[in-house]
Amino acid sequence: MNSLKRLVRAPSNIALIKYMGKTDAGANLPENSSLSMTLDALSTWVAFERTPSAKGSSGGSSQILLLPELPAGIAGIASGVLRLPHLSAAGRAKVIRHVERVKTAASEILPAFGLRAHTEFDLVLRSANTFPEASGIASSASSFAAITLATALACAADTEAFERAWSTQVELKRAFARVSRQGSGSSCRSFEGPWVLWEGEGAHAVEATLPELSHFVILISEETKTVSSSEAHLRVKTSPLWSGRPERVERRLEKLRAALSQGDLATIARLSWTEAWEMHSLFHTSEEPFSYWKAGTIDALHWFAPMILTQPIPPIVTLDAGPNIHVIVPRTEADAWRANLHGRFGVSALLEDRPGSGAQVVSS
Ligand code: DP6
Repeated sequence: MNSLKRLVRAPSNIALIKYMGKTDAGANLPENSSLSMTLDALSTWVAFERTPSAKGSSGGSSQILLLPELPAGIAGIASGVLRLPHLSAAGRAKVIRHVERVKTAASEILPAFGLRAHTEFDLVLRSANTFPEASGIASSASSFAAITLATALACAADTEAFERAWSTQVELKRAFARVSRQGSGSSCRSFEGPWVLWEGEGAHAVEATLPELSHFVILISEETKTVSSSEAHLRVKTSPLWSGRPERVERRLEKLRAALSQGDLATIARLSWTEAWEMHSLFHTSEEPFSYWKAGTIDALHWFAPMILTQPIPPIVTLDAGPNIHVIVPRTEADAWRANLHGRFGVSALLEDRPGSGAQVVSS
């Protein structure tokens, strides 16, 4: 097997209907379906180098090295500032286990798409994000999606054939999205775009009739969160508000899907607002209550509240498991919103993005 270097990237996604609570923590199976918008520039880049296994064909597991380094060659390609992920020993072990999981899955998935698989190789993965980690921008979504794609590509004996299949056969993406879900649930929504529904084991794109959109993140805090989202998934079930949540969310999701296909931005905005408040209320009312909100989060929520409730077409405003606020608006209004948000929250507090199409191979 020849040595191979490639670069991939996967965007984060922002859920309007949230994945919160699992029926199976080992497999990351959700209590309810969720629906998100795939982002574009806010992403994880992974450069990988595959070399023949130092163990040769004698068996045993091959080496995987994970480096929080700037992948070579991307500075000129990636827009915005690149940040290196801070990986704890446990976080690193989780990613390495995931790489092994993808290799095992690839040996079954690739042949099903007419692609030959190799899994005896050593792999060096270098990754960087275009956004601050652990602050409510789903870094685990983009990083697990990018690591999944990088490993899947490394397992392909003919990488050009893999790249062709990746861009033409959506079921190949969906098969690896299911594997990615086992590493981190929300990552399964980062393989397609712009609107993705995750039900049960897998995710797929859904139709929407909407104008071009812009996405802003108001960065309230870049501090690392003290309660991981995996922990939050457990604690929410101890809230008295948990009762009826899965059924309630499925009904909200049906309304949201109808609003997406009708291009009904006002309904999308109001449902998203309610859903974000409900998820954070679960955090605030669990047996060991906790909050991701900072003073600035509450201030911003107060600022948005009258708009959401009274404007004919309000902005779509939501939060993930973090203090930062996501705002989605028609692109025709982006200039006015940028000025508005700069004026209210400061120039350095804003990240900007747009809907995207999911994990992709960047170079060949
Ligand atoms: C609040 O996907 O990070 O962002 O499966 O344990 O890795 P694990 O959880 P994760 O949960 C993210 C939850 C959320 C809401 C969402 O994205 O739907």
